[in-house]
Amino acid sequence: MMELIQESVMSILDEAPDAGHDITHTLRVRDLCLHIADTEGGDRQVLEAAALLHDIGRPREFQDPSVDHAAISAQMAPDILTSAGFPTQKIPAVVYAIKHHRYSSGVTPDSLEARILQDADRLDISGALGAAMTFAYSGAMNRKLYHYSDPLAKRREVDGDEYALDHILSKLMLLPRFMHTTTARRLAQERSRFLQGFVEQLASEIDLGRRQPDG
Ligand SMILES: [Fe+2]
Ligand SMILES: [Fe+2]
Repeated sequence: MMELIQESVMSILDEAPDAGHDITHTLRVRDLCLHIADTEGGDRQVLEAAALLHDIGRPREFQDPSVDHAAISAQMAPDILTSAGFPTQKIPAVVYAIKHHRYSSGVTPDSLEARILQDADRLDISGALGAAMTFAYSGAMNRKLYHYSDPLAKRREVDGDEYALDHILSKLMLLPRFMHTTTARRLAQERSRFLQGFVEQLASEIDLGRRQPDG
């Protein structure tokens, strides 16, 4: 049953617009959901299905940015679940979790499964992978790696739309505080500590480059 759902998702996300939202993100979010559920509880069947289906509306949102991919994914999910033989009585819980998975919605969902899905989705962009995705996306959008004279934004406003490093500083590093579950918060803190070290290393390399005499 889950294999059938996964096959449908793979064919839909084949046309995924960017590396941050392709099938590998979906599969990592599924694995994270199940890992968080090991300690936090929650219905594993609902979680697995919701994680697999949460971003299937992405290609539609990419074509038309006025639509909300969470709402589209929630609309598309029941047909896929029904044809895969997923238990009918659990479909509303899956749809609810998908509908409320967005980080930017600012809503704390009512169900444990929806909170775990939100945590897993954010967690996936909180560490090394988050930095990799930020750089890939920034490159695709022709953005700069960092501000040339003030990379760590000590004397200016951070601008995540202009500089990849600013996006890491202003969004990725703050993710641990938005986690709902203790398990996800702990994982996010570990990943954030790694990012902190990465940012310090980056800043020291930029600094050293400045101190080198011209050749
Ligand atoms: Fe999403
Ligand atoms: Fe996602």
